[in-house]
Amino acid sequence: MNKDMKIVMLGIIGAGKGTQSKMIARHCGIPHISTGDIFREAVKNEDDLGRKTREIMKSGGLVPDSIVIDIVRKRLQKPDAQKGYILDGFPRTTNQAVEFGKGESVSIVFYISLKEDEVLRRLKGRRICAACKAEQNIYLDKDARDTCRKCGGRLIQREDDTEETIRVRIKTYLEQTQPLIEYYREKGLLSEIDGSQDIDAVFADIKKHL
Ligand code: AP5
Ligand code: MG
Repeated sequence: MNKDMKIVMLGIIGAGKGTQSKMIARHCGIPHISTGDIFREAVKNEDDLGRKTREIMKSGGLVPDSIVIDIVRKRLQKPDAQKGYILDGFPRTTNQAVEFGKGESVSIVFYISLKEDEVLRRLKGRRICAACKAEQNIYLDKDARDTCRKCGGRLIQREDDTEETIRVRIKTYLEQTQPLIEYYREKGLLSEIDGSQDIDAVFADIKKHL
């Protein structure tokens, strides 16, 4: 395994960034840093950050760059991130990438590709356990309709996984995040992974680069 893995996960919503980030984190022993998870935790805690971000997330828009960049910088200062990390959902605008690049280097960017028509199906099927946060999908696991298979907790949907918000999120991705594919390709950092394969096959392709 390479030293100092500073990994960025790029891809349309529902491509599998979170799913694969968790697998890479276990495999490499580096933290999975998801800006979306940080915001969802803040919303749940009803703190200052949560109050600023809740409606933006619910509508499918992006949290202002200045807020996001500050949060990521602070998170990367923690001891567990000194030997590497997986950034999931950041950077998400060219401005975030440029600002981040001023202080940090990136080792590899995994661009997980997935066609738009598969996005809606995956995200409408996603379920999260209200108790232990485990993620399940009704299309992958037929028992994932009511209760969590790990702890028996109640399964819920993410607030932004409604069809209406999913469509806005796709548009936001195409307009604001997709340009980062070329940005990182030009820097020679991009590795494209076919995200339409099953979860283990996607991870097997990622592992070839780790
Ligand atoms: P965030 O939490 O980052 O959400 P997202 O980008 O919308 O992406 P998702 O989490 O929906 O998709 P994913 O690629 O992680 O897919 P997953 O692995 O879960 O952001 C949420 C919001 O926070 C944003 O909209 C924005 O408002 C704000 N925000 C966050 N970061 C920001 C930033 N940097 N700047 C500004 N605002 C920011 O998989 C999806 C489903 O598919 C799961 O159910 C999974 O089980 C299933 N699945 C995964 N892989 C496969 C496979 N290979 N085959 C079949 N099913 C699969
Ligand atoms: Mg995610």
